[in-house]
Amino acid sequence: MASTFSRSLALVSFYIVVCAAGNLNQDFQLTWGDGRAKILNNENLLTLSLDKASGSGFQSKNEYLYGKIDMQLKLVPGNSAGTVTAYYLSSKGSTWDEIDFEFLGNLSGDPYILHTNVFSQGKGNREQQFYLWFDPTADFHTYSILWNPQRIVFSVDGTPIREFKNLESIGVPFPKSQPMRIYSSLWNADDWATRGGLIKTDWSKAPFTASYRNFNANACVWNSGKSSCKSNSSPSSASPTNAWLSQELDSTAQQRLRWVQKNYLIYNYCTDNKRFPQGLPLECKHS
Ligand SMILES: *[C@@H]1O[C@H](CO)[C@@H](O)[C@H](O)[C@H]1NC(C)=O
Repeated sequence: MASTFSRSLALVSFYIVVCAAGNLNQDFQLTWGDGRAKILNNENLLTLSLDKASGSGFQSKNEYLYGKIDMQLKLVPGNSAGTVTAYYLSSKGSTWDEIDFEFLGNLSGDPYILHTNVFSQGKGNREQQFYLWFDPTADFHTYSILWNPQRIVFSVDGTPIREFKNLESIGVPFPKSQPMRIYSSLWNADDWATRGGLIKTDWSKAPFTASYRNFNANACVWNSGKSSCKSNSSPSSASPTNAWLSQELDSTAQQRLRWVQKNYLIYNYCTDNKRFPQGLPLECKHS
């Protein structure tokens, strides 16, 4: 079933739903936090907040099966130690797929850690962590996920920081048949988030707030078992608007990726031999 679907994806052209910026109410629903999540400024701004009693969160109204999804985030400023802002795609069930950005707060003046992970069929353990080359609390920056049948690319302000390729050919499961929703939450994780839990959330600085704007998705929306990327009998009618479905990293993008991996990568599961005494995961030999 899944392989038939991806084969048809490769051959045909698509109707892709494009969600433009603004109108955050149309794309998202505030899911928890009892009023701590808000959509403001004419639906152009979404904020999550966290205080001692609760964090908050939102999710997309749509489910997607492949997409190029951009969102601008401005993280909790000042002393954000102990807080985690998670922004991710996830499917449901016990063998779920997930593509994660998580921002681990830190003491004022110390850098945030950007934590990434990819789960396929319920299995993750593919963490890479980065420092950023700017202060993510001073302004909005764009965090993007490109998810197409060949690859998942995490980008920050258009610079790719991580690529997870489809290596099903060598037996690595790839997220490709379970539709995912976008989720985000801001919560207290001071048992582990900052220096392994040594630094606790300073509640005198609450409420903590993270902000979101300029959501943009070029994506295949999944609805009642069908993709909005419907097949069309003429393969030649593929349009430039769906170029992301087969997008790869060109040589400039690869150079940028290497620059980030060389200068900002602080943890990579693929080099953690201690953690995988039986040998590194298969995909590590191919990246
Ligand atoms: C917080 O800053 C310190 C000092 O720069 C750093 O060692 C640490 O890894 C940072 N992040 C977290 C999440 O602990």
